[in-house]
Amino acid sequence: MIELGVNIDHVATLRQARRTVEPDPIWGAVLSELGGADGITVHLREDRRHINDRDVSLLRETVRCKLNMEMAAVDEIVKIACKIKPDQATLVPERREEVTTEGGLNVAEQFGNVQKIVKRLQDSGIVVSLFLDPDLRQIESGIKTGCDAIEIHTGKYALARGQKDVSEEITRIIEAGKIINDSGLRLHAGHGLTYHNVEPIVKIPKMLELNIGHSIISRAIMVGLKKAVREMKQILNSCK
Ligand code: PXP
Repeated sequence: MIELGVNIDHVATLRQARRTVEPDPIWGAVLSELGGADGITVHLREDRRHINDRDVSLLRETVRCKLNMEMAAVDEIVKIACKIKPDQATLVPERREEVTTEGGLNVAEQFGNVQKIVKRLQDSGIVVSLFLDPDLRQIESGIKTGCDAIEIHTGKYALARGQKDVSEEITRIIEAGKIINDSGLRLHAGHGLTYHNVEPIVKIPKMLELNIGHSIISRAIMVGLKKAVREMKQILNSCK
């Protein structure tokens, strides 16, 4: 069965918009797990723009399914991961000015550094995944690092418009997936996946894990808003 990792960074983004205590991503993790999530994914960014150190510590204590920590390949965050010990670490590129992770890790260009970090994390008992574009040079370099899994960046597929561009992107992902499968690594995918575009990605042979955030949290707001307004109205009416 394919596993769903729910990315709850977006809950923390809303909290940070007011620098307050709600919504709490820890609650988000509990509810996601109750809903059937197989994993909880969070990105501890160097600038702590959404998920912070308190969140990852508490999540480590409370998450019962797989805790997947996305992180840049930098010493400060690697040290935190080795201490927190998430079940899985996913190495992603990080640029401060980007709104979200805009491309895969350039493992071909920083092979030595990534290889060292993969080993450091694995030595701490953490399964290591690399977030890579469906680009053969990157996938081949990624496999050579000794990582356990590769998550294919599906952002370009999600943005593609028109049958021709969409099928070209799917073909690139399928081909990258085949190489990952043949190497014996776990095949994951994520970024920009929605209720409408997820199906062809689920159907890729031996696709084991999808990490989805924005679309699920967006839907949660919409399916929950009516009830939330009703509850406030009830309080207003009962105060009279
Ligand atoms: N996988 C990785 C490695 C990511 O960086 C992200 C975005 O934080 C996701 C999955 C989830 O992307 P989205 O929020 O678009 O579903």
